[in-house]
Amino acid sequence: MTIMNIVLTPSTEDHKAEPLYRQIADAIEHQIASGELPGGHKLPTHRALADQLKVTVGTVTRAYAEAERRELVEARVGAGTFVCQQDAPSWIYSYSAQEEEACNLGHNIPPCIDRAGMLKQAMENLSRHPEQLNQMMLYHDPQGLDAHRNVVARWLQAKSLNIDPERMHFTSGGQHAAQLILSAFCRQGDTVLVEQVTYPGFLSLARQQQVNVKPVALDHEGIIPASLEAACRQHQPRMLYCTPTLQNPTTATMSEQRRRDILAICRQYQLLLVEDDVNGLLPQQRPAPMVNLDPEQVIHIGGLSKCLAPGLRLGYIQVPLNLQQRLNTALHNHSLMISPLLTGLACELIHKGDADRVLQDIHHDINQRQQLVEQYLGDFAIQHTQDSFHVWLTLPDYWRLSDFVSAAEQQGVIIKSAEMFTPPGGTIPPAVRLAISAPVTHSKLEQGLLILAELLKKDPMNDFPL
Ligand SMILES: Cc1ncc(COP(=O)(O)O)c(C=O)c1O
Repeated sequence: MTIMNIVLTPSTEDHKAEPLYRQIADAIEHQIASGELPGGHKLPTHRALADQLKVTVGTVTRAYAEAERRELVEARVGAGTFVCQQDAPSWIYSYSAQEEEACNLGHNIPPCIDRAGMLKQAMENLSRHPEQLNQMMLYHDPQGLDAHRNVVARWLQAKSLNIDPERMHFTSGGQHAAQLILSAFCRQGDTVLVEQVTYPGFLSLARQQQVNVKPVALDHEGIIPASLEAACRQHQPRMLYCTPTLQNPTTATMSEQRRRDILAICRQYQLLLVEDDVNGLLPQQRPAPMVNLDPEQVIHIGGLSKCLAPGLRLGYIQVPLNLQQRLNTALHNHSLMISPLLTGLACELIHKGDADRVLQDIHHDINQRQQLVEQYLGDFAIQHTQDSFHVWLTLPDYWRLSDFVSAAEQQGVIIKSAEMFTPPGGTIPPAVRLAISAPVTHSKLEQGLLILAELLKKDPMNDFPL
């Protein structure tokens, strides 16, 4: 029943310490937060603790009263003082792996890695600097704080991404970055070229902004240069939006030569190239990012959603120098700035090495999941890499796309039809995207893959009763 590890700092002539009662209350609070003192635990009597700490009984009485005021403990008449039950308040969202019933292969999210400990630590570290915290509570430049941009940009540079802290802007994720681009650099009725199957979030944005999208054909390396050139001549587009690394949904990654060929065409037709690099930090190795090859032709967007945590909502954008001011105005108009509390938290996670550790865990986990894909779906027409969160599966010709998606759903496996990824008027390929990172456990993923493998083998026409 003894409270452990309470070390009191007495005042000296040179140093005025916190009052002893408050030091004791702080220690109780700390031990409750760390789990050392669980809910319902009985605290020592006032006398016992006073003896242990060599303080007066009055000091302990005051300390317990302070702890009670903070709603940490409760005094029960005749029974003693007990740690309050620390039930999560009703507004804390709770999720448990067991709740997951269906095998949901719908969302392209990082595998479920426990980030609570590192987040708590990062918040504690931030809380140790009240002056900076107060600074973070003020309005700042839309670009974000210099110190924060420096940390993030240096981290990206160490991953061979040429992002300049003087030029980058923080955003609330890649989606926000794409929204800023369309609102800052496109007008209603402009045409934007996109890959023939592409990220649905961009298609939705374009629809909302009344921007036309036109597809460009893909092969296993992404955009086909001849198709891009033909589209430039036909549509006089304003920009090209593409995902050169781990394309969503096909997983294609452009070779460096392909990147150079695409950039040469963009320069020739004065076409801005939007490099959506949200998946860019996932491959262990990859060709040079487009922004490294031509920073004055490329708008680069990226973020921490796929490599750290989507809930952080932190992204970044770097545009050619001549567009910098317009971007600044767009960000200012949209939300004035990104919360410095958020960018400060991300800096803590990067600075302490947590971001790199999570990325390594993601690599490890995804490699294992991709091996399961190989094991169950290796005999079918799949496109995937060992680092991609998703798999692009082309269906056997006896399956109709919508029938396959419904059949999978009926058996509890949620997948995304190619229809979602196809721009209006484009040809829908007979394929589906499987987000294999989404199920919480590997066994749930295996269960889903097995169901899909069984379905793929079955010709639905042969199932009809005669
Ligand atoms: C290609 C692509 N771009 C952007 C996004 C949006 O990411 P964020 O969470 O950074 O907004 C996604 C999310 O899945 C994506 O797949």
